Amino acid sequence: MRICVVGAGYVGLTTATALADFGHDVQCVDIEQSKIDSLHQGKVPIYEPGLEEMIEKNCKEKRLHFSSYVEESIRDYPIILIAVGTPSKEDGSCDLSFINHVVKIIASTISDYKIIITKSTVPPGTNEWIHQTLVEMGIADDFFDIVSNPEFLREGSALWDIYHPNKLVFGTKTDRPVKVLKNLYKRGRAPYIFTSLTGAELIKYASNAFLATKISFSNEMARICDAYEVEYNDLARGLGTDPRIGRHFLNAGLGFGGSCLPKDLSSLKHSAISQKTETKLLDAVMEINHTQIELYLNKLSTVLPELLGKQITVWGVTFKPGTDDQRFSPAIRLIKQLVQKGCYVHTYDPMVQLEFSGVSSYLDQYESVCNSDALIIATEWDQFLKCNWLEVKSRMKGSIILDARNCIDGKIVRKQGLLYLGVGKR
Ligand code: UGA
Repeated sequence: MRICVVGAGYVGLTTATALADFGHDVQCVDIEQSKIDSLHQGKVPIYEPGLEEMIEKNCKEKRLHFSSYVEESIRDYPIILIAVGTPSKEDGSCDLSFINHVVKIIASTISDYKIIITKSTVPPGTNEWIHQTLVEMGIADDFFDIVSNPEFLREGSALWDIYHPNKLVFGTKTDRPVKVLKNLYKRGRAPYIFTSLTGAELIKYASNAFLATKISFSNEMARICDAYEVEYNDLARGLGTDPRIGRHFLNAGLGFGGSCLPKDLSSLKHSAISQKTETKLLDAVMEINHTQIELYLNKLSTVLPELLGKQITVWGVTFKPGTDDQRFSPAIRLIKQLVQKGCYVHTYDPMVQLEFSGVSSYLDQYESVCNSDALIIATEWDQFLKCNWLEVKSRMKGSIILDARNCIDGKIVRKQGLLYLGVGKR
């Protein structure tokens, strides 16, 4: 099949590459000329394991092409997959201006039947609105089909997720595109879920909202464990063995960040309010997440009451391990708070050199702890889990290790004479 993927951001680039790898002829377009130039030179603007190699292979085999000729490509390809950004506006609602722009291009260039697939995460009602807009712009509705096809891939394991989906969700208005859609992806044992346009949009939002709820629930339980001096990780193990609950997304810590969970929660709340529907649970989920940084800073102050002038090392800058993405990273919010409180902050992250006033970035994790009063683990990169605590101790001035991702074995750390603490950690 011939597919034009609009948007070479995180979702567009990974989806275009995988579709090409499945055997389709894919043109991935973006208005940002510099991004397309880099891709033509084999430089991939994001870090995603395996992506660079897969792009190189599919370009070489001529199934994957990059272009900044957006209008021409949209005109020439029969399947348009929209994967442009849908960022948050200041009031938490979703900014649909990039989607709007693509819809206008489709309306002005369409001359043959097209399947228009929305991959971008959009508020409920958006795909109905796209349909209506095209009709109002004079495009007969037997000239196109709109499909809402949300993505569920995670940064850091995006390609694995595309190859091993746990479901394929398609919202449609008619049965006309169904045969094409069934041949788009590698399915494995994943069920198809066909629903309405708005139904598919809501499945995506509900999915991220549920994941966020699990995380905030875990963080509230960790607070209670902390009060009773119970190990939260034991509780998570106990909970997770129940298949109705499951162990995934029960890790307590600094809370959720990234470009999806916080943004989608705000947008869902905004949509619900627009329909005069209350969101008490979502509000609580966001509130708990918001207060996680303060919680860990309070924990730190129990052993380091005066932060002004202290040297604090923060390990981990990205919003989770396995990515170079810093968007809405809880680690960065924590670092900013420490700087605001007058600390000298040292950071180390295997993927990111943070450039921020009041912060010194290091290339070596052990060098980053030299002369520090405290070390905070803010992202659970593997190398922190396996670190040499004796080496850490010999370089630090103080002895405080604050595990803000509940990822370290406290006994091992204490054995080296360090003071280990966390929330819900014994
Ligand atoms: C999330 C969803 O997991 C994907 O299914 C979805 O497709 C994607 O958003 C999207 O909408 O595009 P992602 O943002 O890559 O994926 O990251 P997650 O793995 O969900 O992690 C989000 C945040 O939650 C991270 O900051 C992570 O540290 C935190 N988290 C995760 C926890 O604090 N505890 C956990 O147990 C799990």
